[in-house]
Amino acid sequence: MCGIVGYIGMRDAAPIILNGLKRLEYRGYDSAGIAIYQDGKIEMRRDVGKLSALEQLVREQPVSGRLGIGHTRWATHGEPSARNAHPHIGMTGNVVVVHNGIVENYLELRDMLQSEGAEFASETDTETIVHLIERYLAAGLSIEDASREAFQLLRGAQAIVTFSINEPDRLVACRIGNAGGVAIGVGEDEMFIASDIPAILEHTRRMVFLESRTVAVVTSEGYEVKTLGGAPVILEEHTIPWDPISAAKGSYKHFMQKEIFEQPRALTDTIRGRVDFEHQWVSLPEMNLSPDIVRRISRIHIVACGTSYYSGLIGKTLIERIARIPVEVSIGSEFRYADPLIDDTMAVLAITQSGETVDTLAAMEEARDKGALLWSIVNAIGSQAMRIADGYIAMQAGPEIGVASTKAFTTSIVDQYLLACCLSQFRNGGDSEMVKKAASDLARMPDLIGGVLDHDEEYHALASRLYSFSNFLYLGRGINYPIALEGALKLKEISYIHAEGYPAGEMKHGPIALIDRHMPVLAIATRDGVYDKMLSQIEQAKTRGGIVVALATEGDSQIADKVDHAIYVPEVPELLSPVVNVLPLQLLAYHIAVIRGADVDQPRNLAKSVTVE
Ligand code: AGP
Repeated sequence: MCGIVGYIGMRDAAPIILNGLKRLEYRGYDSAGIAIYQDGKIEMRRDVGKLSALEQLVREQPVSGRLGIGHTRWATHGEPSARNAHPHIGMTGNVVVVHNGIVENYLELRDMLQSEGAEFASETDTETIVHLIERYLAAGLSIEDASREAFQLLRGAQAIVTFSINEPDRLVACRIGNAGGVAIGVGEDEMFIASDIPAILEHTRRMVFLESRTVAVVTSEGYEVKTLGGAPVILEEHTIPWDPISAAKGSYKHFMQKEIFEQPRALTDTIRGRVDFEHQWVSLPEMNLSPDIVRRISRIHIVACGTSYYSGLIGKTLIERIARIPVEVSIGSEFRYADPLIDDTMAVLAITQSGETVDTLAAMEEARDKGALLWSIVNAIGSQAMRIADGYIAMQAGPEIGVASTKAFTTSIVDQYLLACCLSQFRNGGDSEMVKKAASDLARMPDLIGGVLDHDEEYHALASRLYSFSNFLYLGRGINYPIALEGALKLKEISYIHAEGYPAGEMKHGPIALIDRHMPVLAIATRDGVYDKMLSQIEQAKTRGGIVVALATEGDSQIADKVDHAIYVPEVPELLSPVVNVLPLQLLAYHIAVIRGADVDQPRNLAKSVTVE
């Protein structure tokens, strides 16, 4: 998804904007540009390709000024090119715009503007925005009023930042719907705007986040927010608990590698303050739960996308086993169009690392329209999914920059485990032995997963043997079936190898036809209630000439003779086994991708936050 950075203050804007865009590179893009107010004019520099090309262009043609905006573009309308790159300037040269989202009615707006004499220099929908603002500036409106008039004509979801040479002391930002966030960073005599926290975290931790259909006017002294209609809006100011270092790669080769190894700390942080280990009691204050609310809930419906959806599949087992509340799980893009049977006796739980995934947000809005209680488990502070929920759990995983989700996945599983315990306490008065055991089991997890990560060299060696295969089959059962799905997704999204996750019991219903020596089978066969069943699936694969790699429990002496290679993980309670079992699969995918020379942190065609349908 596109990235936006804006600056106004006492310092030179260009380096601040370029560094901010670099911190957003993980969001995926194919061109970039900046616009700086310099000597009474707007100086633009744009180029197709990576940010390094833009940086080179700025070195060759320097720009200097204290007001500016920048953008990394993920092409939607108009191929990746310098002329389609943002920012976009109109015909007068008085105003410039950067934009995330899609102007769904851009063709009719373009026709209207062209009929009034506007000449378009690009194929983008974004350029309609700048011509609309020009139209109202020409009528004598201020940049704020001209922007608001223009934004009200747009259909679809947008995140927009603009400025005009008429009023070079301010930026105007707007959010409409769910095209990603608009964060305003509060500095000393300087202000920042960004589509995501990491872009400006090194400058300030004080941030506010625009709600949908609001417009902010940002000067070096501060900001003022109004609705599109002009009514004043007061926003809650957040202090982001992340340190700038945590948004940097440090000594690691890739963000994904760093984030895999941050999981012991991330789990500690997501548990901290939520489990009273002495009294074995779980508390989640931001969920705003009460006995009455919990007793009213007849069913929970989890909605999410991608890796977060697989986390929800695990959450279903956790909540049903611990809290005894029926749970359904849906993919966000399916739920939103399925006219789901939702009512006010239900809770809808969204799981989303970015808090801005458009399909998940749309599912949340559908659920709210049908009267459901709205919960979310979110990593990005201040994101839409956190703001619109009746109760939320912050993953507290720290910024997750790598496109492939890792620490957000494991923390979201533990957060659902905590939620299950909390719900059980409210329903059973907290005397459940299950909760007491669950709370004590949690305490061991950060150390246990640290131990698994210590075997990284072994996973690297295994990757060296497997990286050249073109197809993989991941098999799991029960609570680890979603881990088979997640392991396959990790491999395919960063190494571009075809990989499929499948419930092991389904092998004989089709996939077994695929088994041969050209397709490794990765079987999750740790000791649990379905271990024996997994062994028979492994034998079925072996007798058909398959190459089988098993994920097994330390001390399992029988499995090694049945497979080509065994990876061992410590024995943990079944309900927490997914948190441990996924780690070797994350590292296996990572090492295979690195050996294959793939762009691990920015895989082709993918974005960290999918804010378009
Ligand atoms: C996972 O590695 C992918 N990056 C993708 O499937 C991701 O989980 C999905 O887009 C959902 O993102 P979210 O958690 O931010 O909503």
